[in-house]
Amino acid sequence: DGTPLSDLVRVPTREVQMRALSDPEIYQLEMDRVFGKTWLLLGHESEVPNSGDFVVRDMGSDSVIVARAKDGNIHVSLNVCPHRGMRISTVDAGNTQIHKCIYHGWAFKPSGEFIGAPVEKECMHGKMMPKEELGLPQARVTLYGGIIFATWDLEGPSFEEFLGDAKWYFDTLFERSDKGLEVLGPPQRFIVRANWKAAGEQSAADGYHTLTLHRWLGEVGNYSKSGDGGSADLSPEMYGVEVSSPHGHALRCIDLGRKIKKLSGLDPAELTVDQKLEALPPPGMTREMLPQLRKHLSEEQLEVMVSMPPQVGGIFPNVLFAFVYIPQADGSVLGLTLLHAYVPKGPDQLEFVNWVLAEKDAPQELKDRMLMQSIQLFGTSGMVEQDDSDTWPHMTLAAKGARGRRSTLKYQAVYETGAPAGWPGPGIVNEGFTKDDTQWHWWLYWNELMNAKA
Ligand code: FES
Repeated sequence: DGTPLSDLVRVPTREVQMRALSDPEIYQLEMDRVFGKTWLLLGHESEVPNSGDFVVRDMGSDSVIVARAKDGNIHVSLNVCPHRGMRISTVDAGNTQIHKCIYHGWAFKPSGEFIGAPVEKECMHGKMMPKEELGLPQARVTLYGGIIFATWDLEGPSFEEFLGDAKWYFDTLFERSDKGLEVLGPPQRFIVRANWKAAGEQSAADGYHTLTLHRWLGEVGNYSKSGDGGSADLSPEMYGVEVSSPHGHALRCIDLGRKIKKLSGLDPAELTVDQKLEALPPPGMTREMLPQLRKHLSEEQLEVMVSMPPQVGGIFPNVLFAFVYIPQADGSVLGLTLLHAYVPKGPDQLEFVNWVLAEKDAPQELKDRMLMQSIQLFGTSGMVEQDDSDTWPHMTLAAKGARGRRSTLKYQAVYETGAPAGWPGPGIVNEGFTKDDTQWHWWLYWNELMNAKA
């Protein structure tokens, strides 16, 4: 409609033009400039434990095969046959040492290397290109706490550089135990008729919507806050520390003091780090596992974990993490550990992928409870995400309106606080009631990538 790309994110007034949520041309650019340049979540290595195991996932609009090869390494190969462009793997997951294209039978190893073609001699008469040139394009892969990330940007920043200062906080979730995490069952998936950014920018730690959209969390059953300082009042949960990132990552760190006091009956200010961990172990960990934390994390990281731990947030562009404490009917607390990816499936459609995680070391009984409650709250028919996935399609539709597409999203809730005194962590840190800063940084990085010179 004539608006230059550089004017979609209006920095001086902290606004975003709504057509960014619906425009097909912007979507096509994003596939190259955002999803072609950043590290993308594809799964967890525990989904492909054995040689030949594979899952089929998406990197932006491209299907990829994520496979464990004979040498034990995980490879991410473009799922496109170099012969005529047929999709090579047409299933979601399996085990094979030979990925064979159903069209004419060209075959590839889990590493993506070309094996051969049927009746090669008779057909090609020695004119076949060298085998090395017929392998499947390979993405660059890294494992972080066993989580598989990949990028098409082979010469770009490392994954550690991509996370930047936010890594210090993410390590308290993903790099804190001896054996690391594993996934509980295959990820749950469902389609939402919404632009991926409606979900992506919310995952950059939008705490504000919890007060209204998830209000029931303060009113219903175990979750009721009526005995916790005010009926249905979720606003105390919205105070805390938020970490923004120049690369769009975000962490909401929420005060644990009230929960520790409720569970232990003791004043958290009088407790040591170890006593606080004993009173309320991190989500998914038992008290027996606590010594592992001291092996993997610094004293400063432990201080944050027992006072203001990261509980929700995102990894740019399309990942949400939740390490949350869920009240139980018997007065105890159950920790849940989850990852979501909002995979783009066109300008007005996304696939919601939900991985339930657990510490490998955790007892089976705890894993079972975590899986059950995660499905109840966050799964395909869960109670929390259904609130969110009700809003994203409306936003996407509104962004298609002749007038609506010229409206702007407003991000004027600005922190003026800075980090709390003595805060030991790095990065862009602010304390107080939840604001728009984390999401605004998300949009700034999107803007930087979209306007970058090729
Ligand atoms: Fe794959 Fe022909 S398209 S073998």
